Amino acid sequence: MDLRLMLDRPTEAERSAVDDLLGPEEGFDGRVVFGGRAARQRRHLLLPALHAVQDAAGSVSRGALAYICERLTVPPAEAYGVATFYALFDTDGPGGPSIHVCDDIVCAQYGAEDLCAALDASGTVYERSPCLGQCDRAPAAMFHQPGIGYGNAAPVTPSSFGAPTFDELPPGLVNQDREELTLLRRIGVVDPSSLDGYLETGGFETLAKARTMGPEAVIAALKTSGLRGRGGAAFPIGLKWEGVREARGGDKYVIANGDESEPGTFKDRLLMEGDPFALVEAMALYGYATGAGKGFIYVRGEYPTAEKRLENAIAQTVGAGLIGEGFDLEVRRGAGAYICGEETALFASIEGHRGEPRQKPPFPTQSGVFGKPTGINNIETLLAALEVIARGGEAFAAVGTEQSTGPKLFCVSGAVARPGVYEVPFGTTLRALLALAGGIRDGGDLGAVLMGGAAGVFADRSALEVPLTFEDTSAAGTTLGSGAIIFFDDQTDFGGVLGRIARFFRDESCGQCVPCRIGTVRQEEALARLRAHRPLGSVSEERRRLDDLAVVMTDASICGLGQTAASAVQSAMKLGLPGVPA
Ligand SMILES: Cc1cc2nc3c(=O)[nH]c(=O)nc-3n(C[C@H](O)[C@H](O)[C@H](O)COP(=O)(O)O)c2cc1C
Ligand code: SF4
Ligand code: FES
Repeated sequence: MDLRLMLDRPTEAERSAVDDLLGPEEGFDGRVVFGGRAARQRRHLLLPALHAVQDAAGSVSRGALAYICERLTVPPAEAYGVATFYALFDTDGPGGPSIHVCDDIVCAQYGAEDLCAALDASGTVYERSPCLGQCDRAPAAMFHQPGIGYGNAAPVTPSSFGAPTFDELPPGLVNQDREELTLLRRIGVVDPSSLDGYLETGGFETLAKARTMGPEAVIAALKTSGLRGRGGAAFPIGLKWEGVREARGGDKYVIANGDESEPGTFKDRLLMEGDPFALVEAMALYGYATGAGKGFIYVRGEYPTAEKRLENAIAQTVGAGLIGEGFDLEVRRGAGAYICGEETALFASIEGHRGEPRQKPPFPTQSGVFGKPTGINNIETLLAALEVIARGGEAFAAVGTEQSTGPKLFCVSGAVARPGVYEVPFGTTLRALLALAGGIRDGGDLGAVLMGGAAGVFADRSALEVPLTFEDTSAAGTTLGSGAIIFFDDQTDFGGVLGRIARFFRDESCGQCVPCRIGTVRQEEALARLRAHRPLGSVSEERRRLDDLAVVMTDASICGLGQTAASAVQSAMKLGLPGVPA
């Protein structure tokens, strides 16, 4: 794109989409390059403004980008760099409707390639997408119709594309006895659009209880509970909340991380769509305990239903005066970038920048979003925190094991009879979880299981006896990640699976550091050469090359994306899975 954007003008529809967000134009002061104070203050609205025009027109035209730059006094090159970073913003297309079809590793088990072939044959224009967070009902697609919105469709067949629907899907089946559930107990039972429905189940009583306890007692209960983060890093929540509470530095923020884009993960979608008022209550609790006056819920762009239900839940809760005084809560929409789940990249995204992680320290509790002390937690962690305060820290710690306390949600998908989100106490074996999901589908045999999603580790049937805890999976050389467990049957061509995983990391690398930017490309290339029986040198030289790349990416990358980009590949080679070049 030629960056002399200022010559292009927006259409009326684009202009009014931006004005609806930013208010009427106040007069252009001509400062598009130098920015200044105004730019700093409104810069964080860049992504919402890009969404506004993409929603209205189906693409971000040069004219629209120029107008956004004027309104926010952001330099055009900067804005262009941001718009092109995020997959959901289309900067070259003609606009109009779009279709995204998931061809990731679970949908591939449910015929995604045949679906794409049928779409190709019929001349349908679509884009291939990484995991859309609908793996429990694969294969999945997402439609966008300007002026109407986004809609998820799953499972899809070729006929689903003739007349796309934008109806909200149910949050997902809960396949367990309700009496056994805590985190999932309201899903599918309580109307997610009704505050009254939530109040009837004891909603907002926990926040009231916390207010009588006081912030220090809330944090003490969280410490007693042993609750550790459910987003992958397993950091103790009590310590994090205490860190934010004790941080100096004026304004403080709390953030719910609902970016959930790890292939094979969909538990946070279920919680946000099925129990949105509980997340609002948990965020109010977070603000109260830490002294933060502002909260963000960052929802991945591919979860339109979650976004709408959370917006509605916030509006009703504020309207009823249950939250609001001294605490403001806002939903922010991601735009198709897996890396934005990494906490510091997520801060950059909220601030209106490309989602590029930064080095830690300083840690978010000292310097997070807008350079202010920030607490950030996964959605499941926040709902578990609510349970801790409702039931007491000791009662929560009595569930699970000493180092992994409480209930845990697992996203079970792939070659099982009943894919879904399952809630079990930490310490349940993988075998028991597989049994809950109905075993391997169609009476097949287990080929391998990928624990922790694309960033995780392949394991064979010996992992079935491993208790699902942070400590036991780590001792067994696997990982829990955030709870994605993808099963593959013994007919699987794992070479193809690895190729898709390698493509995912190459696509999603933010490109900021060399080991990851180059390493993910080289890894994908080496795997492709091996698969085509055209190794560079010998097969063992290629294998050594992959091992070297793994060491460099793991040791020298800035963030977790690069550090884990080789782990599935390495573990599959170690196990000698079928189809993986030996
Ligand atoms: C590449 C990458 C993607 C991540 N994606 C998510 C995500 O989608 N959701 C999430 O809660 N944490 C994600 N994380 C972890 C966050 O950086 C952070 O640790 C987490 O939000 C903290 O919350 P917790 O302590 O409740 O787990 C990701 C990390 C990396 C490196
Ligand atoms: S490791 Fe990859 S995703 Fe992370 S900062 Fe470096 S280039 Fe970006
Ligand atoms: S929705 Fe397709 S792999 Fe998750």
